[in-house]
Amino acid sequence: MNRLVVISNRVPAPSAAGAQAGGLAVALEALMQQRGGLWFGWSGRISPAAGVRMMEDGAVRFATVDLTADEHDRYYNEFSNGTLWPLLHSMPELMSFDRRNAQAYRAVNERFADSLLPLLRPGDVIWVHDYHLLAMPAALRARGVVAPVGFFLHIPFPSPDILASVPESAALVRDLLASDLLGFQTENDADNFAEAAVRIAGAERGPNGWLLVDGRRVRLGVFPVEIEPQEFAAAAEDSWYAATTERLRRSLHHGQLLILGVDRMDPTKGLLQRLAGYRRLLETREQWSRRITFLQIAAESRKDVPAYQDLREAIEREAGNINSLFAEADWTPLRLIARAGARSTIAGYMREARVGLVTPLRDGMNLVAKEYIAAQDPQDPGVLILSRFAGAAVQLGSALIVNPYDPDEMADALDAALTMGLPERQARWREAWDAIKDASALGWGRSFVAALLRATAKRPLHSGAEPAPSLYGARGETGGMRLL
Ligand code: F6P
Repeated sequence: MNRLVVISNRVPAPSAAGAQAGGLAVALEALMQQRGGLWFGWSGRISPAAGVRMMEDGAVRFATVDLTADEHDRYYNEFSNGTLWPLLHSMPELMSFDRRNAQAYRAVNERFADSLLPLLRPGDVIWVHDYHLLAMPAALRARGVVAPVGFFLHIPFPSPDILASVPESAALVRDLLASDLLGFQTENDADNFAEAAVRIAGAERGPNGWLLVDGRRVRLGVFPVEIEPQEFAAAAEDSWYAATTERLRRSLHHGQLLILGVDRMDPTKGLLQRLAGYRRLLETREQWSRRITFLQIAAESRKDVPAYQDLREAIEREAGNINSLFAEADWTPLRLIARAGARSTIAGYMREARVGLVTPLRDGMNLVAKEYIAAQDPQDPGVLILSRFAGAAVQLGSALIVNPYDPDEMADALDAALTMGLPERQARWREAWDAIKDASALGWGRSFVAALLRATAKRPLHSGAEPAPSLYGARGETGGMRLL
């Protein structure tokens, strides 16, 4: 079996510092533990040290590198999270751009490729993840790597018009086209990318998701990320009986219904718009006073990025406004927690919640929506309210689908969810559960790797053929040429 080499910015290595890889780690960990392989990325540390730290956990070897303070600032904070994140979420108004940051981003991608190169061996299959590493496929090819290279984008891909607002984006599209397989969360994302490849790189769209670029074939595919639904359901049931959920339940006096939101504190998650929807509900339906509690867990994230600092202030201000306007001496309508909770604890809260509120302004997939469904008691399930702009809406169409920009629509949906009778709740939940119950994160990972191997099956990997220079950039002639 070919060794799988995963490259991602965050790595769930046992000793990695700082925030863990979140959704990405959840999606990949099962595959890596089962199949084994090498997982390469940032250690989570900021230091001037240039070396690669190796460690092992079960069948997985981790190789991590530190970022310097300047790299962390320019590559991670500025370009990845201040430019690419809003750009790819179609929110250019939140975006800043500085050519120096784009250069630093590229330099980190190249440094990662340099550090990885000596660790590669013949027969490896390389899988690159996410928006931090858009330049990586071309950086690998420029170093002579001819192994199968797949890339998966966990977040959305915007329309070519929006993409064009970042000068560097054309080069990054070309860099991605050095992959053999490009995976996206939805058809819409894959389609936007194909269109950009046509406009920017003169690609031709072939049948069945192939792109023809400079005489090469690049496969595009849609691979919606999944959770482990049965595992999550079991964790939610256990946790529902645990002390943490019991304490939450006891705090909901007189059978108040719980509305729950669980997000990273991020401008794409639509938290302010969600509060506006809740506020509209309280303004227009007095009957809910004292009868509901909205618990929003908004784990602080990327706190060096100005847009995230502004968001935190705005959310805290608006949460305060809502509580001071609508609270009673014996009732607080909104509870806001700006810290992450343990996954198992949150699973229990999800099972307790009558309404799961997942209303991002734009989201690649949103695994919280799938987790909320998995956490429900089939006999007495809650109702998912889901943004039409989350990738998960493609699969979870039986949720109450809302436009998060419309507070009245959100208030109507909340009212409908809170008053929905048991048969309708069960029917909607059943349809959503049927859509996710047989999939798994492991299956997702396996299907990507299988598609990557299929996409490269007829390509001569040991031929020594030089990649086409127009695709692989100026460093195509690197010394230390490595054929895998
Ligand atoms: O795909 C989105 C993502 O980058 C994931 O990789 C990660 O789980 C999440 O965002 C958290 O972001 P950060 O690594 O910036 O803390």
